[in-house]
Amino acid sequence: MIRLPGDFGLTTMASKSVITKQSALFVRLAVRRGGHERLGFWRPAVRPSSSKFQSGLELPASTTKRFSTVTTTKPQHPVKDILKGRARRDLHGKVAIVTGAGSQGDDIGNGRAISILLAEDGASVVCVDKDVSLAQRTASIIHQALKRRGKPESPPAALAIQADVTNESDCRRIVDTAVSSFGRLDILVNVVGVMGAHGTAVDLNPEEWAWGLEINVTSMMLMSRAAIPAMLQNQRREENGSIRGSIVNIGSVAGLRGGTRHLLYPTSKGAVVNMTRAMAAHHGRDGIRVNCVCPGMLFTPMMAGGMTDEMREARKKRSLLGTEGNAWDCASAVRFLAGDEARWITGSILTVDAGATAAVALSSPV
Ligand SMILES: NC(=O)c1ccc[n+]([C@@H]2O[C@H](COP(=O)([O-])OP(=O)(O)OC[C@H]3O[C@@H](n4cnc5c(N)ncnc54)[C@H](O)[C@@H]3O)[C@@H](O)[C@H]2O)c1
Repeated sequence: MIRLPGDFGLTTMASKSVITKQSALFVRLAVRRGGHERLGFWRPAVRPSSSKFQSGLELPASTTKRFSTVTTTKPQHPVKDILKGRARRDLHGKVAIVTGAGSQGDDIGNGRAISILLAEDGASVVCVDKDVSLAQRTASIIHQALKRRGKPESPPAALAIQADVTNESDCRRIVDTAVSSFGRLDILVNVVGVMGAHGTAVDLNPEEWAWGLEINVTSMMLMSRAAIPAMLQNQRREENGSIRGSIVNIGSVAGLRGGTRHLLYPTSKGAVVNMTRAMAAHHGRDGIRVNCVCPGMLFTPMMAGGMTDEMREARKKRSLLGTEGNAWDCASAVRFLAGDEARWITGSILTVDAGATAAVALSSPV
């Protein structure tokens, strides 16, 4: 053991202290106390950078009495180890299906915005629509957007497919296409939904009612029925919480509260909300997450037709934020729930409505 002169002003309770680093301001010590090793920082009276404090010098245990001028810290782990437990937003290597991925013209509906955001984070997206030209336009927007950002596509970021999600064999074909084109399936976003039958129980058309339930509710069951077996082929990985697949259903705030003019839409969206919870319970132990996004009154192509400026203003005023949302707001919430950052979230109903369902907006400050 190298003995240090006794004038350093250091007194510790340590059984062993070894210098591990010297700098102009301090000397770092590995301090052993009570069976634990810690780091200590010591500012000696004489210059810390002097040759007396070279790394590897061991301080004599016999001179240690009190622990005063050494400050100990908890052991520090490498930063890469500290960051290891978190999930990533990255969707590279994941394959997603988005139903209702088209949108009229070049406008941005929910399915189109969702497809674009998933692809932007690296997923390969199967864009499904009963009108294939609308799905193709979405896929083309994705290709062009990634090109503009200089992001190479390998495998392709999007492909368009024509299908009717109320038809079970179409649903199976969608999933088969995803798996044969990209090798796996990780994410299903059930977007397709319509306003459906107009009227109350007294005056609605029962055939339109049945058809509306088929589009808004049954289609989501059929798509999940086809998708879950494919998702179960995925290996569980610890870093994504052992999740094998993620389903996001698009509900509506109309499914959470009454007050909507027609009976079909709130009824079917209420069913989507509780179908989400029931499916989350059925498939959670298999590593499948099922969540629901409930948008409020967004301004999308579906809503734009026939809405006056006064109607838009009135809609804004009904929310706490007093502003208007659009499809991107819905899509951001879906992207979060679809990906690994939400690995511990299932059975959850996320409202995207500027607070409209949280409370009644105050019209005066009192
Ligand atoms: N726009 C809003 O303010 C709002 C609010 C709450 C919830 N939502 C929900 O968001 C979803 C999408 O709304 P949007 O405004 O973007 O709709 P949208 O009408 O713009 O887009 C829906 C797409 O689905 C396609 N589609 C319809 N039936 C289909 C079927 N059987 N098979 C395959 N594709 C089909 C259409 O061709 C269309 O391209 C719906 O579920 C809707 O209820 C919308």
